[in-house]
Amino acid sequence: MYTLGEFVLRNKDHFSYSIEALLRLFSSIKLASKAIHKEVNKAGLTEKIIGSTGITNIHGENQQKLDDFSHKAFIESFKSRNVVCGIASEESKDFIVIKKGIKENPYQYIVLIDPLDGSSNIDVNVSIGTIFSVYMRKSSIQMDLTIEDFLQKGNQQILAGYIIYGSSTILVYSTGNGVHGFTLDPSIGTFYLSHFNLHFPKEEKIYSINEGNYAKFPEGIKKFIRYCQEKKENRPYSARYIGSLVGDFHRNLIQGGIYIYPKTDSSPEGKLRLLYECNPMAFLAEQAGGKASNGKKRILDIEPSRLHQRTPFFCGPVKMVSQLEKFMENCK
Ligand code: AHG
Ligand code: MN
Ligand code: MN
Repeated sequence: MYTLGEFVLRNKDHFSYSIEALLRLFSSIKLASKAIHKEVNKAGLTEKIIGSTGITNIHGENQQKLDDFSHKAFIESFKSRNVVCGIASEESKDFIVIKKGIKENPYQYIVLIDPLDGSSNIDVNVSIGTIFSVYMRKSSIQMDLTIEDFLQKGNQQILAGYIIYGSSTILVYSTGNGVHGFTLDPSIGTFYLSHFNLHFPKEEKIYSINEGNYAKFPEGIKKFIRYCQEKKENRPYSARYIGSLVGDFHRNLIQGGIYIYPKTDSSPEGKLRLLYECNPMAFLAEQAGGKASNGKKRILDIEPSRLHQRTPFFCGPVKMVSQLEKFMENCK
């Protein structure tokens, strides 16, 4: 059984940048995710985790205590490992500069993070997650970081992944050489390789969408839902929706399904965040032989203009996403 560290070292050629930097990045990610795992597993026993902070975040959403805990855990963990120069988090209005001299902070990596995904599931014991994404800074290391360092297209990602805090805690990542999953053995606090080279299975089985919004969906989406429910070929598909992108994506990756979050009348740009949620999941989906689109365009080719930009998001096996795009195209 390989630990995450051993696997990274054995596959040095999977990463075109400094392997020491990659190990430091993972060291930060592992530490913060283990702290979150520990808290999640105590939820219900302690006031610290359940409920809201009373603060409305930048997205106009009620911030949960675990959103705040997770945000701080990741920021502190990255700060102490001298590998990252800037972080943008779903829970922070502006990007965060890690102030270190060039000598002490020689690695110039940018992290974008959704520290806690699926917050509405915290208090009800349903899977939640963390989504992370890493880029090289664009500006010179002699200069201050600029917003352009964070507004990079998803196709520039050098590392992306998620952690799912479910029936077990699993870390899934890609550096552009396949998608690999590692399960935490909580008794010794170590992640072990459990899912080597994940790929969407050949057979499509599932569609995942918040169908409660049906009346507000564009016509093409309604048509696709009817297509999924039709008794034809390998259909109808099963409907499965957790309301946590990480949980829904993870299940769909293993069992074969499409995740759909379209624009609606009330959210004309969609709900999910391009930089913290869609780009990393799109990177993983493509690495697993799938596809991710906003209905017209490849997610990874979208030029971001704002840190907290939203986008419609369709992600899963190529055939399903392409079929959905066809319906959207024909319904204009
Ligand atoms: P977050 O908890 O980080 O704000 O993300 C919630 C997102 C995503 O995880 C999930 O798929 C989606 O919101 C669910 O939205 P609905 O409740 O509107 O279906
Ligand atoms: Mn989220
Ligand atoms: Mn979140």
